[in-house]
Amino acid sequence: MLSYRHGFHAGNFADVLKHSVLAMIVKSLKQKDKPFVYIDTHAGAGKYAFQSEFAKKTGEYQTGIAKIWPVVERPEEIRDYLAAVRAENTGKQLQRYPGSPQLVRRLIRAQDRMQLSELHATDYGHLAHLFAGDKQVAVFKEDGLERLPKKLPPIQRRGLILIDPSYELKSDYSAVVGVLQTAHRHFDTGIFVLWYPVIDRPQTERLLQRIKDTGIPRQLRIEQCVTGDGRVRGMTGSGLLVINPPWQLDAHATTLLTWLDPILSEGQGQWRVEWQVGEIPPDS
Ligand SMILES: C[S@@+](CC[C@H](N)C(=O)[O-])C[C@H]1O[C@@H](n2cnc3c(N)ncnc32)[C@H](O)[C@@H]1O
Repeated sequence: MLSYRHGFHAGNFADVLKHSVLAMIVKSLKQKDKPFVYIDTHAGAGKYAFQSEFAKKTGEYQTGIAKIWPVVERPEEIRDYLAAVRAENTGKQLQRYPGSPQLVRRLIRAQDRMQLSELHATDYGHLAHLFAGDKQVAVFKEDGLERLPKKLPPIQRRGLILIDPSYELKSDYSAVVGVLQTAHRHFDTGIFVLWYPVIDRPQTERLLQRIKDTGIPRQLRIEQCVTGDGRVRGMTGSGLLVINPPWQLDAHATTLLTWLDPILSEGQGQWRVEWQVGEIPPDS
């Protein structure tokens, strides 16, 4: 029985990092006319209202989007993400937030497609309603991890796959490693983005080490901790492990975090953008 609801967390510091990097990758994919598919294995409800009982209870968006919203000087790297948030908010007040499905939907072109999986009945209902009648988007009430390897490679042969579990089940930590391995075997040119939390540092490092040990080449790690490990209860940071990052994502992520970190920092945090498995030279 799943109890995690992303509505409690929407727009928090982890969402800001995840969604701004996602927007940068979509931008890179659009540099070629050829269509691509976006697959979201853990889609959530699609979009969120800050006036909902969830968001009002935790106010987590105050740790993320609410802090960057008033900042006037913004790097190019955050523009597409903020434009998508702006599109949800016509007035001055921040009222709504696009989850990964709504964010990417606002950024793709007519030739691109989306496949979204969500298991929670209520959030699946919201997601299906949001994209009802949209011919570019397919929504599935299926286990996104089980579904993924069966659907690869995509017919477009170009794709961005977000794997964004809540890690509510401890088994998620090992399941994502196996799924990444199989999915990459089926589609070794796909861009895979795995989100991970920093709650318990040794557990995070074990996860990253296991992915490193798969032998999958081209693994870029982008991580931001808003405070020191273990300084507060719960999540102190989050990261993205990107397999096959587009050209210069490392440089763009560095620019993004150089700007973002002082705004979101709660003291004693740190960030990193590093290749945990480097690029293989084309001639090797
Ligand atoms: C972190 S949230 C997703 C947030 C969303 N990707 C975003 O960025 O806006 C994780 C979601 O995965 C759903 N979920 C958990 N296990 C799943 C599974 N095996 N397959 C599909 N959805 C799952 C949960 O119900 C929850 O809504």
